Amino acid sequence: MSSSRLFFALWPDETTRAGLAAAAEEVAPGLGRKVPARNLHITLVFLGQIDDARRDHLIRDADRITGRPFRLEFTSAGWWPGPKVAWLAPDAVPPELAPLVGQLEAAATAAGVEVEGRPYSPHLTIARKVFRRPRPRVFAPIHWEIREFCLVESHAGRSGSEYQLLRRWPLTPP
Ligand code: 2AM
Repeated sequence: MSSSRLFFALWPDETTRAGLAAAAEEVAPGLGRKVPARNLHITLVFLGQIDDARRDHLIRDADRITGRPFRLEFTSAGWWPGPKVAWLAPDAVPPELAPLVGQLEAAATAAGVEVEGRPYSPHLTIARKVFRRPRPRVFAPIHWEIREFCLVESHAGRSGSEYQLLRRWPLTPP
């Protein structure tokens, strides 16, 4: 059976994407390997290599996920020395986010996928292979209205990962 590398994500609309890309450029000019604007996203749950039967199971379960739309406001940037990634992060985590991630993790577990036990820390990776802390910058807040979540497939391309949106689900209150 064939399989694919999958993750659930928040995928920005084009206006938000342009704002995030501009902020990324301000924060990390010339730092490491920049994530191309078309690839900017927030991972909700990383699934890894998933066979087609599990993928279909996940899609069926995700059809039942409920949640309210919410807003993320990005004002800050940071860096993790371990994975060597620079990121933008929302300054506050809205209460709608944890239940959404919780339902997605439950769907993953039900489909037989092992998910990370670490607490969820929302971030948007803007550059990889970053070996020093970016200079702190303050940029105008970027508002991102989250109205949907997505299932995304990751392909290893010649110049890094390429992502393909497989499915979008609107956030619909219970
Ligand atoms: P990152 O941006 O913090 O590196 C697609 O690869 C997405 O899944 C990326 O956003 C990446 O997060 C995340 N990802 C990749 N490998 C992962 C792993 N082993 N565990 C958790 N998240 C991972």
